[in-house]
Amino acid sequence: MNNISELAINYLQRYNCQISEDYKTFLRDACEIQPPPHGMAWYGNYYRRVVRNPEWFAKSLIANAAEEGNGSRTVWQFSQCIDNPEYAELVRNHSIDESRHSSMFVALLNILFPTQLEADFRAQLQALSPNYYHHKHPTTEPLSGDKPYGHALRDRILDQKVFVDEIIKINLLEIRALILQLLMRPVLQAYATPKDLAKVTTMSDLFIYDETKHVEYSAYCIGKYIQEENQEWVRDMMIYRQKTVNEMFITDVELENSVGTTVLSTPE
Ligand SMILES: [Fe+2]
Ligand SMILES: [Fe+2]
Repeated sequence: MNNISELAINYLQRYNCQISEDYKTFLRDACEIQPPPHGMAWYGNYYRRVVRNPEWFAKSLIANAAEEGNGSRTVWQFSQCIDNPEYAELVRNHSIDESRHSSMFVALLNILFPTQLEADFRAQLQALSPNYYHHKHPTTEPLSGDKPYGHALRDRILDQKVFVDEIIKINLLEIRALILQLLMRPVLQAYATPKDLAKVTTMSDLFIYDETKHVEYSAYCIGKYIQEENQEWVRDMMIYRQKTVNEMFITDVELENSVGTTVLSTPE
């Protein structure tokens, strides 16, 4: 049994998420056959060693703010390529959450390293988040041809298999984001002064809750597709995508700078 699939399923249960049994079986298979590096002892040890350097940790908070902001924009464009209104709304909510996460990472930087930021740099960091909210966000209209990906992306995603593949990638990357939040939690608490400890802990709770909900909604979409007689294809695809996510993760570790980022960019 792999610790990543068990941890993810455990958090889904902790927040009362309704997840199909088939999804759980396929996630267990994928993690067993392609074990994620982020579940291995060496990764946790490596992270705990590098994170002791405050400069490294501050940079990793900035890298996270940038990744969450970019992820939010990409996920919004993805939502504009989805015809099913229920799924499109779930994906839009995801985008709004990631926008908030970007701002939360900047807030954490301000709380944990209050004196080291200059005013202009502070403003640049604030701009990493697209600032999407439920009451203020880009259009929900289908993606038009003048956008970077435009019609080509939309036409591709209207193919249901391509949509489910994207959702599987999101699902596995959100599990990774959840694991990284769990690794980061004691670090945030260790860097916090006693005065900020409660605030930082509440932010960590929210991150962990949100990332679990992102695993939940993507698992829900996958579960629906499994019900339509696509068991074997979904199982194969989850195993294949776990492999590509793992390969991406190893590249990140080699780049050292991005270790510990809750990156949402998707592997090709
Ligand atoms: Fe996030
Ligand atoms: Fe997320």
